[in-house]
Amino acid sequence: MRELSRIREEFLKELSRVRDLKELRELRSRYLGPKGVIKELLKRIKELPKEERPAFGQLVNELKEFVEENLKKREEELSREELERKLRSEWVELTVPPGRSLGALHPVTIVLNRIVDIFKSMGFEVEEGPEVEREDYNFDMLNIPPEHPARDMQDTFYVNKEGYLLRTHTSPVQIRTMLKKKPPIQMVAPGKVYRRDDDPTHSPMFHQVEGLVVNEWANFRHMKHVLESFLRTFFGKDLPVRFRASYFPFTEPSAEVDIGCVICEQRGCRVCKGTGWLEVLGCGMVHPKVLENCGIDPEIYQGFAFGMGVERLAMLLFGIDNIKLFYENDLRFIKQFV
Ligand code: DAH
Repeated sequence: MRELSRIREEFLKELSRVRDLKELRELRSRYLGPKGVIKELLKRIKELPKEERPAFGQLVNELKEFVEENLKKREEELSREELERKLRSEWVELTVPPGRSLGALHPVTIVLNRIVDIFKSMGFEVEEGPEVEREDYNFDMLNIPPEHPARDMQDTFYVNKEGYLLRTHTSPVQIRTMLKKKPPIQMVAPGKVYRRDDDPTHSPMFHQVEGLVVNEWANFRHMKHVLESFLRTFFGKDLPVRFRASYFPFTEPSAEVDIGCVICEQRGCRVCKGTGWLEVLGCGMVHPKVLENCGIDPEIYQGFAFGMGVERLAMLLFGIDNIKLFYENDLRFIKQFV
């Protein structure tokens, strides 16, 4: 009997130390399992004299019930505690307004701002024009003749109103600015443009920044300096820059500007098609006819103009190879450029 009460006390002590259901299960099998304390006690009945066996058996049974009851009570307590702990850890505060994460600027906006800020620091003003533009501002006034292929339905989005279209470039803002202001003019015009184009490097809507300088002394060397400074500031390094003779109806002479490939450092890669050079903008001296169209005397004034694609510069700056990523609004992509 002394042994039984010692076992009972030992059990209570061990039970008080149990911290979770797993420990409780272990304790249960130690006392009630096939090789447990109770089973061992019952085996020992045989060792006792016959007359003591019933009384001992009953005591062991009482002990067994005592153990079972206490284990059950503790199990209920522990389950309740565990449930509470789980509920507390999964608690959702429903009164907190959603969407507390701060927004970020879109990579196109980041790059657009960067371009405009550099030109502002050089004394350029910012002009804007409409996306639904007059056909004559988009083409005729820029010396683009009626039979020019860019006017084809394949290239341009026309709208239902006669004489209007979705501007195909930001160059009509040159016209609007010259009609509105007298030289000296020194402006950039950022904005959306539209073309019937769709592949990994072309999107039907994209962004351009236009530039225009008109005064009595602007010249090609001046333009070259402005654009080289811009490109080196934009990419943050002393890039090779080259001007290649080209043709635009609204400038004469015209040039396209290449930079040394920023992806491969001119070793030759897929992006620069092995040439080591990337075309990044178009430019030229404003055609006298364009000045004349806007009532500016080309005998007194001269100017230069340039235009660049924002997505293209963003792709080169950040090393992005598909223009579509800008328009899918996948936050995992967009948030990388904060
Ligand atoms: N408008 C031209 C285009 O969309 C880009 C351009 C080239 C703009 C030369 C200019 C310029 O102002 O002088 O491809």
